Amino acid sequence: MRIRKAVIPAAGLGTRVLPASKSMPKEMLPIVDMPAIQYIVEEAVRSGIEEILIITSRGKTTVEDHFDRNPELEERLLLSGKQKEYDRMLEIANMAGIHYLRQKEPLGLGHAVWCAKTFVGDEPFAVLYGDDVIVGERPACLQLCEAYLEHALGVAGIKPVSPEVIHKYSSLGVIPLKGNRFEITDMIEKPQKGQELSLYSILGRCVLPPEIFGILKDIPKGAGGEYQLTDAMRVLAKSNGMIGVEYEGTRYDMGSKFGYMQANVEMALTHPEIGEDFRAWLKALSATI
Ligand code: UTP
Repeated sequence: MRIRKAVIPAAGLGTRVLPASKSMPKEMLPIVDMPAIQYIVEEAVRSGIEEILIITSRGKTTVEDHFDRNPELEERLLLSGKQKEYDRMLEIANMAGIHYLRQKEPLGLGHAVWCAKTFVGDEPFAVLYGDDVIVGERPACLQLCEAYLEHALGVAGIKPVSPEVIHKYSSLGVIPLKGNRFEITDMIEKPQKGQELSLYSILGRCVLPPEIFGILKDIPKGAGGEYQLTDAMRVLAKSNGMIGVEYEGTRYDMGSKFGYMQANVEMALTHPEIGEDFRAWLKALSATI
């Protein structure tokens, strides 16, 4: 069965990028001139996704505004002959079938995905974390969808992280299969020292069967007092099996200050409008530091 639906959880508080995220969703933080969440929606669309549910919360209405029409702006652009900008505005508004649902309390990523139960129904679906931008030639979401169809099992996008930061992520028990694929045997969210299973962690993407909702319904609160998607995926991995795909592409954690700056510097270097000037400026600057 083709993967047609995606869920983008974007209802978190974003405490790691305060004060920027106090009144602006971290998912709307720009990378040069485009908000993070637009990169993510574009990745989903390039992966063949047709319907997207964005999980939002209080204070996140700018996400909805961004993907909506803006007749005043469109008219002004047309009148002033800015056809290219006008076309781009319409393109954003017509990108995919985008739906919204509010998570009333930030009870965790597992709870945010649980909120998508009715939207998803009885078919497999992709989850793209709203603050993880992944840039690359082949969309990460597509790489995971392909693995889902091949193995008929839930798939997590994985990458190794450094021993110094693994405690902030999940840690996976993995057995290498062919190429960039792994069998996931176990997982733990935010492991304490000594609990790490490996340095492989789930980073930003997964494709899950609808059975995950039956599991999410019963999981207790986990790390940080939140309902963790990792805890539900652990049950899935142990009962049905799960595949890890070490996806191609560079991931930027827009929910952290460092990731946000990395994304902006790297993407500015190749930006069609400012890339050349930015590179020259950065070279001159780096000679002074
Ligand atoms: P994070 O754990 O990075 O989000 O969740 P957070 O809680 O906003 O982070 P900090 O630690 O306070 O900075 C990954 C994704 O899941 C969403 C977030 O918006 C983010 O895109 N999320 C998280 C929800 O939708 N609901 C939640 O209850 C928690």
